[in-house]
Amino acid sequence: MKKTELFFDPSVAIHDFLVFGEFGDVNPSITDSSTFTFLSTDKMEEVFEHGIEGCFLYSRHWNPINKYLSDTLARFEDTESAQVTASGMGAINCTIMQLCNSGDEIVSSHTIYGGTYALFKNFLPKFGIKVNFVDATNLNEVKKAITKKTKVIYCETISNPLLEISDIPSLAKIAKKSGAKLVVDNTFSPMIVSPYRLGADVVIVAGCVCSSNEFISSLNDVNSGASMLLGAVLDSYRAASILKNLHSLHLRMEKHSENAMYVAKQFEKLGLKTYYPGFPKHRGHKLLKSFMNKGFGYSGMVAVDIGSEKKANKFMEMMQNEKVGYLAVSLGYFKTLFSAPSHSTSSEIPEDVQKKIGLGKGLVRFSIGLDNNIEESFSRIKKCLKKLSII
Ligand SMILES: Cc1ncc(COP(=O)(O)O)c(C=O)c1O
Repeated sequence: MKKTELFFDPSVAIHDFLVFGEFGDVNPSITDSSTFTFLSTDKMEEVFEHGIEGCFLYSRHWNPINKYLSDTLARFEDTESAQVTASGMGAINCTIMQLCNSGDEIVSSHTIYGGTYALFKNFLPKFGIKVNFVDATNLNEVKKAITKKTKVIYCETISNPLLEISDIPSLAKIAKKSGAKLVVDNTFSPMIVSPYRLGADVVIVAGCVCSSNEFISSLNDVNSGASMLLGAVLDSYRAASILKNLHSLHLRMEKHSENAMYVAKQFEKLGLKTYYPGFPKHRGHKLLKSFMNKGFGYSGMVAVDIGSEKKANKFMEMMQNEKVGYLAVSLGYFKTLFSAPSHSTSSEIPEDVQKKIGLGKGLVRFSIGLDNNIEESFSRIKKCLKKLSII
């Protein structure tokens, strides 16, 4: 693929994909039924055998609003097809269960979301699936960990919480050569990076599996599909709200990243150890720049090391009292959210591994909010740092 063809605008890709309700409603109707009737038994049998465009059988299989959202997210990630599920873990589980059988192996980055880490380390072995954790930014380490049994190479585009950048084009080549599938969690970088365009086989975003027609059809197979059989079906009302919000995500991502860049620079100026892929000195900056889409910044996530768990906890409580944002896990909310990953979202990662990957106990992860006066918000953050004698 030529370099100029790499850049893509997901907001433009979904701009003309419009679905109306029965009465010309500007939003599609919310499906309020779990089951769908048929005018003939023949038609019902046919739908059981293979899908028919516009025909629905049962909500856990497909329902109209989930289909619209899936089709929109497929355009958004530039994949052939997509399947929404009830959560990020729902999408990850469906993907892994579909791709792996007992006896198979996964090579996974060790800097991944704690829930995914726990699934891989503690849960998958119950089904005879072994996971080899590696530093996925070291391509030789990835290659060395691959065996004949490797079915999946797994990473996050921008990793949680240390904001490392995965070399998706190179990992895709390694996966292809070894016959494994590259699965990329794009949670931290929707719009910013389009992993499928860079060679990934499956992209996880917004609780959705985005991939080829073939893979998504396999997920939906009534006899053997993980999505159909594990039942992580997304609620229709939630699907409708995600669909509506998706059309304004480009504006929110721009502000999210712009504010994050400001906060990261201020932390850096104060002499704090700051992790942000927008900094030219960040070790993944050049790589990210080489394949990121233009106009959505370097993500709204920033991490800063305060030094100790005690200080990090005090700092977060003070910031909450100052109404900087909320002491809460997760990301992408309109207010700033902060948590200390080593004792929250990454607590599933054993202490020795945390140490090895550089995840300090004093690390505070921020999902920066959409504040229209981020300078004022940062002055409150600074006040907290001063009170705690951190600066
Ligand atoms: C990178 C990443 N992947 C997956 C998940 C899981 O998503 P969910 O909580 O919707 O299951 C999270 C949750 O925060 C995450 O940060």
